[in-house]
Amino acid sequence: MTTAIYPGSFDPLTFGHVDIIERSTRLFDKVIVAILTNPQKAALFTIKERTELMHDILEPRFPNVEIDVFEGLLVDYAKQKKAQVIVRGIRAISDYEYEFQMALMNRRLAPEIETVFMTPAEHYSYLSSRLVKEIAELGGSVSGLVPELVEKRLKQRFKK
Ligand code: PNS
Repeated sequence: MTTAIYPGSFDPLTFGHVDIIERSTRLFDKVIVAILTNPQKAALFTIKERTELMHDILEPRFPNVEIDVFEGLLVDYAKQKKAQVIVRGIRAISDYEYEFQMALMNRRLAPEIETVFMTPAEHYSYLSSRLVKEIAELGGSVSGLVPELVEKRLKQRFKK
């Protein structure tokens, strides 16, 4: 049985993330979508809010997806979960440098864990959580970029 970890901040979950999750669920027996608890990074949604949103959106659609929260080193968490694979999405060449560095560092720390890069559908290649937050905050439409539930929560958060 192959278990993959798809780690990230998911602040908030976008259709780009959902696309990568869907592709991963076809390749691996179990996909753990792991939200990083990072006290250094100011987030729009709390860990609890992100977890709840992701449960509601992902669990009915993908039976082999588990939502979890982690802190500390990703490779330690992956070992604890007996995962063999770390999944990362790469949208453009600009993502590659950082991802390559992280994959090699993770390999040095845990050579038995393989990082697999996946590309989302091209119409999500310019999509990021950061831009979604900025657009929503400035009153623009994020329809078609994030699941409806996320869109609703963003509207509530930035209601004037
Ligand atoms: O959504 P993000 O911010 O691109 O996700 C980055 C993430 C969570 C994959 C990365 O920051 C991470 O793995 N953090 C855990 C700490 C860790 O293992 N650091 C060493 C990486 S080589």
